[in-house]
Amino acid sequence: MKYLVTGAAGFIGAKVSERLCLLGHEVIGIDNLNDYYDVNLKLARLDLLQTLDNFHFIKLDLADREGIAALFARHAFQRVIHLAAQAGVRYSLDNPLAYADSNLIGHLTILEGCRHHKIEHLVYASSSSVYGLNQKMPFSTEDSIDHPISLYAATKKANELMSHTYSHLYQLPTTGLRFFTVYGPWGRPDMALFKFTKAILAGEVIDVYNHGDLSRDFTYIDDIVEGIIRVQAKPPSPNTDWTVDAGTPATSSAPYRVFNIGNGSPVQLLDFITALEDALGIKANKNFLPMQPGDVHSTWADTSDLFDAVGYKPLVDINTGVAQFVNWYRQFYNK
Ligand SMILES: NC(=O)c1ccc[n+]([C@@H]2O[C@H](COP(=O)([O-])OP(=O)(O)OC[C@H]3O[C@@H](n4cnc5c(N)ncnc54)[C@H](O)[C@@H]3O)[C@@H](O)[C@H]2O)c1
Repeated sequence: MKYLVTGAAGFIGAKVSERLCLLGHEVIGIDNLNDYYDVNLKLARLDLLQTLDNFHFIKLDLADREGIAALFARHAFQRVIHLAAQAGVRYSLDNPLAYADSNLIGHLTILEGCRHHKIEHLVYASSSSVYGLNQKMPFSTEDSIDHPISLYAATKKANELMSHTYSHLYQLPTTGLRFFTVYGPWGRPDMALFKFTKAILAGEVIDVYNHGDLSRDFTYIDDIVEGIIRVQAKPPSPNTDWTVDAGTPATSSAPYRVFNIGNGSPVQLLDFITALEDALGIKANKNFLPMQPGDVHSTWADTSDLFDAVGYKPLVDINTGVAQFVNWYRQFYNK
């Protein structure tokens, strides 16, 4: 099969592209290689991918309407895995317009391409951040998500809404995956695990927000990739019994689905730091700080729907996953 993977130089996109190629598919990967974080890491991911004959990279911005339309016209994609986005909650406080370009216009150019070229299945990245002020745990796709607390989260919710309209109007099968704090080798420099590792190895203090009273449902990259691979193979069908009153927000009379994809077991931030200290063999110097605006207190994914639909079951625990990250980091950065 021929796939378009957007954000192919990114953390998750590179791993998904690799996996699809190893399964024998042809992958066209696009990315604008922006400098939100170290471009060399994106280029290093691409270097690895470009050793695979069935991977082809095109530098392209999602917001380039003509460029994206021409891409779809040139390649007869069967499935699209749309992972490119402006990520990050904190950055959205200072750079909101970057989110409008990449996440709103960008999502729409991909929807348009899928609509006009009869794509069999569009799988796209949503986020656990859509749960915003929700307090009921674990977070379920049956819950309302009307109270996001960052513009990033609002754009991810918008992506789900935009996708629903295309599923309804054009019968485009779409599946949104709400990722829960993805971590592991080749991970993002703006995320806690990377920042903490870098600081601890340099003998610097680490900033611990909300005085350590935070928890996250950390999900290992290989579990995420396995979930995406399983989901993309199962385009949603319209749910003919569905009505607004009797149905859940995660499904529809249109070929539309939304799933949580997490580990299903939240970890306290201080336990996470202990796992990292153990893996590094170094104690961290902690700088305890108040809560950051836009951050949520806890995340915890109810992934029962994803298990029922595709048998998704995360396999990697936090100690193993953090140790894998540390091995990669030390090797990659020669530390
Ligand atoms: N990593 C996580 O914990 C997490 C959690 C929730 C949601 N997500 C979502 O998952 C997806 C992948 O995340 P990631 O962690 O791999 O992030 P990432 O930043 O490593 O990857 C995203 C890639 O998209 C590219 N990109 C950004 N804007 C673009 C544009 N306008 N045109 C073309 N390319 C563009 C970037 O250069 C980057 O390589 C994103 O949609 C993100 O919002 C990630």
